[in-house]
Amino acid sequence: VRRPRIFSGMQPTEDSLQLGNYIGALSQWVALQESYDAIYCVVDMHALTVNPEPEKLRERTRRTAAQYLAGGVDPDGSTLFVQSHVPEHAELAWVLSCQTGFGEAGRMTQFKDKSAKQGTDGTTVGLFTYPVLMAADILLYDAALVPVGEDQRQHLELARNLAERLNSRFGEDTAVVPEPHIVKAVAKIYDLQEPTAKMSKSSSGGKGVVWLLEDPKVAAKRIRSAATDSENEIRYDPVAKPGISNLLTIFSALTSRPVADIAADYEGKGYGHLKVALAEVVVDFLTPFQARANEYLSDPAELDAVLARGAERARGLAQATLDRIYDRVGL
Ligand code: ADP
Ligand code: NA
Repeated sequence: VRRPRIFSGMQPTEDSLQLGNYIGALSQWVALQESYDAIYCVVDMHALTVNPEPEKLRERTRRTAAQYLAGGVDPDGSTLFVQSHVPEHAELAWVLSCQTGFGEAGRMTQFKDKSAKQGTDGTTVGLFTYPVLMAADILLYDAALVPVGEDQRQHLELARNLAERLNSRFGEDTAVVPEPHIVKAVAKIYDLQEPTAKMSKSSSGGKGVVWLLEDPKVAAKRIRSAATDSENEIRYDPVAKPGISNLLTIFSALTSRPVADIAADYEGKGYGHLKVALAEVVVDFLTPFQARANEYLSDPAELDAVLARGAERARGLAQATLDRIYDRVGL
């Protein structure tokens, strides 16, 4: 039997992914690729919405792909590719944009937030139609499941609505309606300096961020200087003790040990002990991760070959879907 298909991607918006991307997404992808037919994409066309420098975007796309591989995405068992290498994404996005209500797109809260900050003239049509491109990414592969965080739920809902709309207008099996894949107990990682805010590539200044490709010594220092609280009791309590709880969560995710066991190990010890131990755990994770990423980054021909193979496989799937949908809509 065919394994259910799953689609996911990340934007190459910075030189490095951050630890939350690894714990919340990449490590999950690696676990999922065993039981699912996994399609993992570097969504460079989405990153174009922030109008990056061309050379930076190109470089970040490669670095993101290298980090997928370093994190354990299997380029043979899964399909790993770059979005812009498969032109069908843009082609399907056009068809879907003709099925999306202007008001419907305008209700996307991420668009409302971002466009409110940028003003009408600073806001591009690309930012407005971004969720339509995301729907195309998903529907193009007939993905049954999409692992999504809370912030992408509304966009996945749009993808579902568009699939249902195609099916009711053009025939039942025009598109597969994707379901959210919620992994229970996926840890959410918080900023080390501001432990009530999500750790993010776009965290201002990045001082509370562990970057996957940054010098491990710098990461260790960031862990050791993480903001905590004025008590000295190590216990998992995200409301009263967000800083310590975040450190325990990171410790647990990187060592695959239950939070309670780690908290018990450090009971009665000072925060410094926990921080020093976690700094070592982070260094032990980052060092081999970076070695693997650098292998790909120092061998551009090999990385290109991996991505070309992925794009070829993805295109085979994408063309079949696009042919079917073009045919249904009369193109
Ligand atoms: P970023 O905020 O770093 O730009 P994205 O919003 O592009 O990250 O998310 C990429 C993937 O990484 C998503 O699957 C998201 O759920 C996951 N992710 C991002 N930040 C975190 C975090 N701090 N904790 C857990 N998962 C995260
Ligand atoms: Na983001």
